[in-house]
Amino acid sequence: MHIACIMDGNGRWATRRQLPRTAGHTAGEENLAEIVRACVRRRVDWLTVFGFSTENWVRPRGEIRHILGLHRKLFGRVEELNDLDVRIQWIGRPFDDPEARTPRYVQRAIERAIDDTRHNKGMTLTVAFDYGSRAEIVDAARRVIESGEAIDESALTRHMYLPDLPPVDVLVRTSGEQRVSNFLLWQTQGAPFHFTEKTWPELDEAEVDRAIALAVSHHGRPTNDR
Ligand code: FPP
Repeated sequence: MHIACIMDGNGRWATRRQLPRTAGHTAGEENLAEIVRACVRRRVDWLTVFGFSTENWVRPRGEIRHILGLHRKLFGRVEELNDLDVRIQWIGRPFDDPEARTPRYVQRAIERAIDDTRHNKGMTLTVAFDYGSRAEIVDAARRVIESGEAIDESALTRHMYLPDLPPVDVLVRTSGEQRVSNFLLWQTQGAPFHFTEKTWPELDEAEVDRAIALAVSHHGRPTNDR
């Protein structure tokens, strides 16, 4: 079971409580830790979340700094992830890409967490950071051409940032927005979408169960028929 989440509505959660937007992101990171636990308890084997997109760099500087700090915090939860038998990985624009903007301290936190959790066999938590799906597909096409292979679906799949990331079984988007953004466009083909009015910090286990039920009800249908 592969659940992918667009974690939307942190800002709205905070504004409704007359708190700064950054407080919403802090609550969002804490709720992500809860959702990870909920998914582990349900034996979900893949959870992929949209932490920061290539488009998010236009946000105010202070908000970006806060979100980057939260990524360092999340990737620092190594002890917790090891207790849960969760392997963490990252998907995004390669750090050596000329357009990449990930600061060194975030890169280091990401690399260390990946290395320190690599032996875990339970769930794989993939965090998308400085990620854009169209750029991923364009890069994959470039790499197929460079390798001299014929361009087909299987070659493109093999050249995505994380070729082992399985197809998504259900995409969750919080906060009432019924759209996909630039997230896993290749990997969500045919997958059902679970939209909820709840903001990301409010997402709870019951909602995870609804998403899983939706995925299960679609299971077994031929991909092109989903
Ligand atoms: C969406 O809410 C949230 C983001 C773009 C920020 C990234 C997510 C988190 C900080 C929570 C998980 C944490 C980590 C470290 C992966 P928004 O700001 O777009 O909310 P709004 O639409 O209500 O303004």
